[in-house]
Amino acid sequence: MLKRLVHLVRRAYFQFMTPAPTSLLRCDPDAITFPSSFSIPSISSPDTHQALIRASQVLRQGQCVAFPTETVYGLGALALEPAAASRIFSTKGRPADNPLIVHVSSFEMLQNLLPADFVLPRTYQVLTQHFWPGPLTLLFPTVPSIVPSVITANQPTVAIRMPSHPVARALIALTQAPLAAPSANSSGKPSPTRAEHVFRDLDGKLPLILDGGPCDVGLESTVIDGLHDDGNIRILRPGGVTVEDIQRVLAKEFTGSEETPKVLVHRRDYRDDAIEQAPTTPGMKYRHYSPSVPVVLLHTSSQSGKHKPTSFHEFLKEIRAYTAEPTEVGLLATEDSPLWSHTVADTSNIHWHGFTLGPSTQPIIAARRLFDGLLTLEQEGVGLIIVEAFEEVQEGLAIMNRLQKAASESYWVSLDK
Ligand code: TXA
Ligand code: MG
Repeated sequence: MLKRLVHLVRRAYFQFMTPAPTSLLRCDPDAITFPSSFSIPSISSPDTHQALIRASQVLRQGQCVAFPTETVYGLGALALEPAAASRIFSTKGRPADNPLIVHVSSFEMLQNLLPADFVLPRTYQVLTQHFWPGPLTLLFPTVPSIVPSVITANQPTVAIRMPSHPVARALIALTQAPLAAPSANSSGKPSPTRAEHVFRDLDGKLPLILDGGPCDVGLESTVIDGLHDDGNIRILRPGGVTVEDIQRVLAKEFTGSEETPKVLVHRRDYRDDAIEQAPTTPGMKYRHYSPSVPVVLLHTSSQSGKHKPTSFHEFLKEIRAYTAEPTEVGLLATEDSPLWSHTVADTSNIHWHGFTLGPSTQPIIAARRLFDGLLTLEQEGVGLIIVEAFEEVQEGLAIMNRLQKAASESYWVSLDK
């Protein structure tokens, strides 16, 4: 009798407490084409077609699916079904007051989310024409009877983007419903740029991951608020579309008597008390982008400004406090960085793990590789990750935005000898 009871309890435990395995299905982006710009996709590979059909079935059942976008992998669920959208929060361990981005595959889908009388501001017309589909998120006035409050966290706006990744667009189009999708990582961790990053982090917590290969952009979308009366563009989160790209496009399209709108970056060009209070932008309130080991940001002397740099040797002495012996330390830096020769010359007992971020002249490559680098070095078991700081121009602005949130401390060193 007792034996039978133990057996039943054990069976119930394994049925309900052990996580169901997560399937990983390959989805070939090259097999997906869109005959006209926003129509239903045509899919040449039967396996990819099957994977997408399966994923949209899982989504329609109210469950989560991780899928690739051009920026990072997203953790998707039906945006207009509160119970489905809530699952995203429990799967990621995301605080409920942090709103989600809604992803659409067509302008018709966008239109159905907006107030009937809403007219797209001229800036939004220009930005969507140039950057959609793509890594740009825009805030719109929300209609609470359409978009559930779990998505907007009761903000008066809803963030919407149209991703360009063929798998993301095809999945939304086949599901015939907008998908809410934050980055597919446990809250606070670096965003995943490969299916295996998602699998390592969330295995057992969701039924399905679509593997569409590595993400091209590597950092999340640029989040823009263009709803202010002054017509200016406010960047809440720098990302895949750079400030310079946006300025160039606005300067080209606003001609004659039209005044070109300003592009203002939050915290660099303006502050906003409401935003500072509400956790509506990454890193304002919560920890972000941090692997399970400490990250330190290393500024080299040419960027030191008002900070007094120490020598590389002194810096190594200080960081030794972070890690236990034997000292495994990761270094993320551009391939032409002078830091590499300093690590080679280092005669301490540090065992260096390197990950290169492409040439310093091409921050677009560093953006693509940054999260992969943090996650790879963490996986290699280092006790500390050092990342070389970037100049805050082009993609460097978004890179530094993420690094300043990931890093627990910043150091300034002089590498001149
Ligand atoms: O590239 C991306 O944007 C990726 C992919 C998956 O699309 N998604 C993504 O989602 O980065 P998430 O949740 O990790 O970041 C979205 C950020 C949130 O931190 C949130 O604070 C902000 O956008 N956000 C969402 N709705 C907002 C709103 N109504 N007002 C202000 N900020 C909002
Ligand atoms: Mg995120």
